[in-house]
Amino acid sequence: MKKTYLLAPGPTPVPADALLAMARPAIHHREPEFQPIFQACRDGLQYLFQTERDVVILASSGTGAMEAAVTNFLRRGDRALYVNGGKFGERWGKILGAYGCQPVEIPVAWGRAVDPDAVRAALDADPSIRAVYVQASETSTAVRHPVEALAEITRQRPDVLLVVDGITAVGVFDLPMDVVGIDVLVTGSQKALMLPPGLAFAAWSEKADRFMETADLPRFYFDLATERKKQRDNQTAWTPAVSLVVGLAAVLDRIQRETLEGVFARTARLARATRAALGALGLRLFAPDAPSDASTAVWVPDGVDGVALKKALRDRFGITVAGGQDQAKGKIIRIAHLGYADTFDVITAISALEMALAGLGHPVAPGAGVAAAQQVLGGGA
Ligand SMILES: Cc1ncc(COP(=O)(O)O)c(C=O)c1O
Repeated sequence: MKKTYLLAPGPTPVPADALLAMARPAIHHREPEFQPIFQACRDGLQYLFQTERDVVILASSGTGAMEAAVTNFLRRGDRALYVNGGKFGERWGKILGAYGCQPVEIPVAWGRAVDPDAVRAALDADPSIRAVYVQASETSTAVRHPVEALAEITRQRPDVLLVVDGITAVGVFDLPMDVVGIDVLVTGSQKALMLPPGLAFAAWSEKADRFMETADLPRFYFDLATERKKQRDNQTAWTPAVSLVVGLAAVLDRIQRETLEGVFARTARLARATRAALGALGLRLFAPDAPSDASTAVWVPDGVDGVALKKALRDRFGITVAGGQDQAKGKIIRIAHLGYADTFDVITAISALEMALAGLGHPVAPGAGVAAAQQVLGGGA
């Protein structure tokens, strides 16, 4: 027998109460019993997004909400900045291009956060730009981009929206949508929300409502105005992912009981412990200057093949972590600590990493990483 551990930045483990809720017999979404569940989800999502605005629930993976964040707010030919410091930033550019917008890239070296001055300068240089698209947490590089600083720039410009992919940020660290001044915020179910993949979420500001009035890009399934209207009556335009919505009510209840502050503090503590442990093992962080608390990316040491390391963790110990993509393939691994994660997920990951590295011939002092993690975790720091 081998026990398995899901320690990648999504999909993440699903707690038993949500699994049990989703295993209940199916209910019909047009019958009254669905409505209080949906209402509880809508309330819980406002708490999670820290917004007074509606948060719309979509049946799709996160990319569906990213696409909606383009098609519902822009016009054909619109110029939009996108921060490209990894695979998901790159995706903004692809979606913008696919819908006939003109993507203007702000390139960022992998492992680095965007410099807000570069965004300000690009907006100053081209007043026709109508939006800035960015990740709050770029999962492919484990970087946190400075969304608050970007919002300071876009808040001063009534004709520029700030559109944020919060797919590994919402429910990971504090990102109060209304207070920060994010115009469009999207996330998905399989990350900090501790659910299987299949739901995506979007909320948008009053300023974004004005953009919506003139948006002319083709859309049908992901028509946010239609969804908002329906969802205010606890209905959905199309058949919702009923079982996932039932699970969503369970996880949102869990988050509200822990409180957002509690969730952020727990996640931050796990992230600090992971970083400390990797440092104690003599490994270099991939994003030392702006690490996201969602997951930690670390350079695989010289002489070790990252693909082999990931495989050893999986095949010897049943542990799934993420590897690197594109230019980082085989060079980094990413260990997640978002969602349904706690002290011993970190200990497990670090202990297994020590054993896997040793097995691949890299010298490690057994327990050195675990000891450093314990310093952070045990102290309740
Ligand atoms: C930051 C970010 N954006 C977008 C996505 C894409 O979401 P999905 O795979 O759910 O479509 C992911 C998924 O890993 C992500 O981490």
